[in-house]
Amino acid sequence: MSSLTNKRIVLGVSGSIAAYKAPDIVRRLQDLGAEVRVILTQGGAQFITELSLQATSKNKVHDNLWDKEAELSMGHIELAKWADALLIAPASANTIANLTAGKACDLLSSVVLASDCPVLIAPAMNQQMYASNGVQDNLATLVQRGIQVIDPAHGAQACGDIGEGRLAESTEIAKQVGSMFLSTKLSGKKVLITLGATIEAIDPVRYLSNHSSGKMGMALADACIEAGAQVTLIIGNISTSISEPSKQIYASSAKQMYQSVMENIKDQDIFIACAAVSDYSVKNPKNHKIKKSNQVLTIELTPTKDILKDVCQLPQKPICIGFAAETQNLLENAQNKLKNKGCDAIILNDVSSADLGFKSDENAVVFIDHKSSIKLAKNSKQKLGRKIIEIINKKFL
Ligand code: C5P
Repeated sequence: MSSLTNKRIVLGVSGSIAAYKAPDIVRRLQDLGAEVRVILTQGGAQFITELSLQATSKNKVHDNLWDKEAELSMGHIELAKWADALLIAPASANTIANLTAGKACDLLSSVVLASDCPVLIAPAMNQQMYASNGVQDNLATLVQRGIQVIDPAHGAQACGDIGEGRLAESTEIAKQVGSMFLSTKLSGKKVLITLGATIEAIDPVRYLSNHSSGKMGMALADACIEAGAQVTLIIGNISTSISEPSKQIYASSAKQMYQSVMENIKDQDIFIACAAVSDYSVKNPKNHKIKKSNQVLTIELTPTKDILKDVCQLPQKPICIGFAAETQNLLENAQNKLKNKGCDAIILNDVSSADLGFKSDENAVVFIDHKSSIKLAKNSKQKLGRKIIEIINKKFL
């Protein structure tokens, strides 16, 4: 897996002669596995054509804040939400000043304001401009706000001057974007995640189950792997691909999942119970297919053991995070679950709406612990997974 595999990068290209290098930056980001969308400012368009950037990024170039059609397909808010990181390369003195002032005067500055993902800028301008107090003060302010500056190189410039201000090499820019994602926050930590739906046999043909796809659990696994953790997955019935590298154990029924968790829980630092485990199993599953008849058929169910609750009661329990998929009295039910199960946090998701939660690629959740609750607005499960792991890291590690 490359450092930018599955990462979505918005590349802002602003008005500097170095904009002619932007298609190469797109290619180098793609080499590391990124999907790239480009925002071209008016200044940038003086130095590079939309067509070159469209051809290399394989996506429509975004260049206008007021384009009604673009707003309908992917407007500035969607673009900001879509991005895992914003890279501005080259970043002109004017764009740097806009960011410092918090302006929303064009599409690029608006997307920066509307996003909550990391922002990197690679300044490129004449060496005298770069050395000016105005630019240097602005860069210092941006660094203070958490924006990462990719320093320009020293050398001959397009204008004939020699000095610091040349855009950093495309490979170096892509490498710095990649390094930002190679976080080691969970380095050396072990994380056990249950995911997907369990299946409770009625007879050899029929079963009881639920709509869980395992996508949220897999997104959490990806985020843990990215952060350097050793991940063990206890996998129920899923309809998504499996994250590598991870230890993978398959468990079909609630009983098998319980056993697999208990066999693997020792020495784990974090347990995330993301699986939709059946609360009941069939009391006497039949060995042969039940024949159709006109009689009412009664199937007796017995409660399953609560994996999360039992892990929370282990003498050396890991940090325990549960999920609450609710359709009514959402907060109240989730808070009760937090107390009753004895876990450290519950992630609440509303599964009553069809476009969120089960099966969907998107979700909106509330992270509830014993002190506070944090609302995470609708976003892709991948992005929510990263945010949840960031919160777990900040709160408990
Ligand atoms: O009580 P409820 O099933 O709503 O709780 C949901 C949470 O408990 C989820 O984190 C789920 O993975 C976990 N759970 C479990 N074992 C069960 C039932 C639920 O670990 N038998």
